[in-house]
Amino acid sequence: MTTLLRVDASASPVSVSRRVAAAFTEALEAHMPRLTILNRDLAGTPIPHLTWDAVSVLTGMNNDSDTAGEAEARALQDTLSSELLDADLLVLSAPMYNWAIPSNLKAWIDRVLVLGRTLPRDPLNKPLGGRHAVVALAYGGPGKLVDGDATFEFCESYLKTLLGTVLGYRVETIVVRNTLSTARSDTPETRAAWNSALAEAETAARTHAHSLAERLLTGAGPAVR
Ligand SMILES: Cc1cc2nc3c(=O)[nH]c(=O)nc-3n(C[C@H](O)[C@H](O)[C@H](O)COP(=O)(O)O)c2cc1C
Repeated sequence: MTTLLRVDASASPVSVSRRVAAAFTEALEAHMPRLTILNRDLAGTPIPHLTWDAVSVLTGMNNDSDTAGEAEARALQDTLSSELLDADLLVLSAPMYNWAIPSNLKAWIDRVLVLGRTLPRDPLNKPLGGRHAVVALAYGGPGKLVDGDATFEFCESYLKTLLGTVLGYRVETIVVRNTLSTARSDTPETRAAWNSALAEAETAARTHAHSLAERLLTGAGPAVR
């Protein structure tokens, strides 16, 4: 049985990032009918930001038995980190908000990264290492912050570093850019360009789902439980 955890962060009812993640998930499901899909909608049901109780549990600073607040924080951290550990595949979709990932996604990351459980203590032994993660991102503009000669990018690079370098996932990103400029200047030309950019991203998502399903079903990918 293969389990896919889908995590969506956009607050928009017409979200581009969710649309691309849906194209991937639906295509994978078509190839793998026994796929189990678990959804985490971070906009619909936000994860609370870290409190002192949560930090003391995360860092192991509570020496005595849990207070009520710590018990609650531990239960949430256990639920979310177990969901990630139980998932063979992670599909994550997010918008760029103020040059970065949305705070609801950061709040989820802050709860699921538990040292020794999901976050490796030893770089040679990563609990989530070798699993696949597909990240669908949507940017209103080009997604880069240019300051003189320097260029900054805090969304895709952050998620690739975190999921790939730190956690050991094999990360595939699909990024749709300039979603706002095309929506604002609604001429037939820009509309056509926009439709084709979106179609291209959805096709990339379906193509990736197809090749990933082949690898998983033939055993060419990482072990699927
Ligand atoms: C609060 C907020 C901040 C945003 N900040 C940026 C930004 O810094 N850079 C950018 O390119 N687009 C920015 N946008 C535009 C979104 O990235 C764009 O609308 C994108 O399509 C959102 O993803 P979604 O369609 O999946 O909701 C922002 C939008 C909102 C609502």
